[in-house]
Amino acid sequence: MQIDAQKDESSAAYADTASKARKVFVKTYGCQMNVYDSERMADALASDGYRVTDNPEDADLLLLNTCHIREKAAEKVYSELGRIRQLKEARAANGEDLMVGVAGCVAQAEGQEIIRRAPVVDLVIGPQTYHRLPEALARARGGEKVVETDYAIEDKFEHLPRPEKEVIAARGVTAFLTVQEGCDKFCTFCVVPYTRGSEVSRPVGQIVREAENLVSAGVREITLLGQNVNAWHGAGPDGREWGLGELLRRLSDIDGLERLRYTTSHPRDMDDALIAAHRDLEKLMPYLHLPVQAGSDSVLKAMNRRHTAQDYLRLVDRIRAARPDIALSGDFIVGFPGESDADFEATLQLVEKVRYAQAFSFKYSPRPGTPGAERDDQVPEDVKSKRLDRLQALLRKHQSEFADSCIGTEIDLLLEKPGRLAGQLIGRSPWLQPVIVDANPSQIGEIIRVRITRAGANALFADKIQGESGSSTI
Ligand code: 5AD
Ligand code: SF4
Repeated sequence: MQIDAQKDESSAAYADTASKARKVFVKTYGCQMNVYDSERMADALASDGYRVTDNPEDADLLLLNTCHIREKAAEKVYSELGRIRQLKEARAANGEDLMVGVAGCVAQAEGQEIIRRAPVVDLVIGPQTYHRLPEALARARGGEKVVETDYAIEDKFEHLPRPEKEVIAARGVTAFLTVQEGCDKFCTFCVVPYTRGSEVSRPVGQIVREAENLVSAGVREITLLGQNVNAWHGAGPDGREWGLGELLRRLSDIDGLERLRYTTSHPRDMDDALIAAHRDLEKLMPYLHLPVQAGSDSVLKAMNRRHTAQDYLRLVDRIRAARPDIALSGDFIVGFPGESDADFEATLQLVEKVRYAQAFSFKYSPRPGTPGAERDDQVPEDVKSKRLDRLQALLRKHQSEFADSCIGTEIDLLLEKPGRLAGQLIGRSPWLQPVIVDANPSQIGEIIRVRITRAGANALFADKIQGESGSSTI
């Protein structure tokens, strides 16, 4: 699971026009799965008469969709609730009501404790019960403090309403689609198996229907999501259990769907069929987020990662043999309990060998209830900070070398949204880098052929290649 959502921490991506409707402001923290969930919550609330607003001052309901992966993420929620309390008091002074809900992983992990610590909250709702949001809100409006964090017996995906075509279109030409939730891996640093529960895979038919609905509303690129997406194994229409490689093949048959991606993968679950999909499917973009976390075998073992550094490097070789231009990205944790200087050097060596195109790196943060937090050989903060600085300098160097290596290449670019300057549009390269090009807003949703001319700090710049429209190859 990648923590920096591709779609920014923000309100859900479409705004209200009908002034009479009740309005909800959704603030999303954390990973792409939360971005997807915020949209699903907005869909559930739409059937209850709510429209999304991007202005909290304007809202009748504030929903925080929270993340629990590291300490800071949860603390951010409590400080936001402090600010919301002032807003709610100001509203109450005007005789107006403001409902406040906390959803997501902090809701699941802390439940009732949130209401104890922040009485401003009316409703706490966990990720498995979003389809019950209208009913839970009705109870909260009646004065009850609602905590709805059980794992629902029914499948929420069967009960969540389908968004209208205009709503999908307003969200853009790229979309997330959750295919798998939960995790059975129990890495010893990670809270996900406790907050999101055990692995559940959605069946093929449900996923294909959702993808077709997105495409018919103008979506051109879909990113399949799962906490451990390559462990997905859903029931196929033929009664067999399918794997992710087979699902990607089926989705790439959808006319009008031009690009596919998926995230986040565990190295242990990269099977041959999935690697072959990277070799065979033009629509599957050459980018893979494959977290390794650390480069020392003893740390990997203590993390319960179930692979060695050698296993990971061999896997990378097999993936690159199947798709030589694939860009790899990863997650790293420095300062896991017991990590020595030599262990940390092994992480740097692994990074040198793989040369990631992009990466996310974090200081270890003990999460209550996980085995790592119980250990008495925690690494001091200042050591973690120094290690993180060194690792990030190396990762940044590789990332910018990769960006420089793109200069002069011709690529197909899916135009996604307006850039910061008038006349500019932003798209993503096949390797997920933002690319800025001069183009007309009417071209959003088109794939055009461009040449990369320059690499900036956070984006590539490109020129259109006149007279050529994009094809589905790179
Ligand atoms: N401390 C620091 N980083 C963590 N991650 C998960 N749990 C922790 C933790 N306790 C990181 C991992 C994971 C990413 C989503 O967040 O690198 O892949
Ligand atoms: Fe957490 Fe490990 Fe599962 Fe990823 S694979 S969600 S890091 S327990």
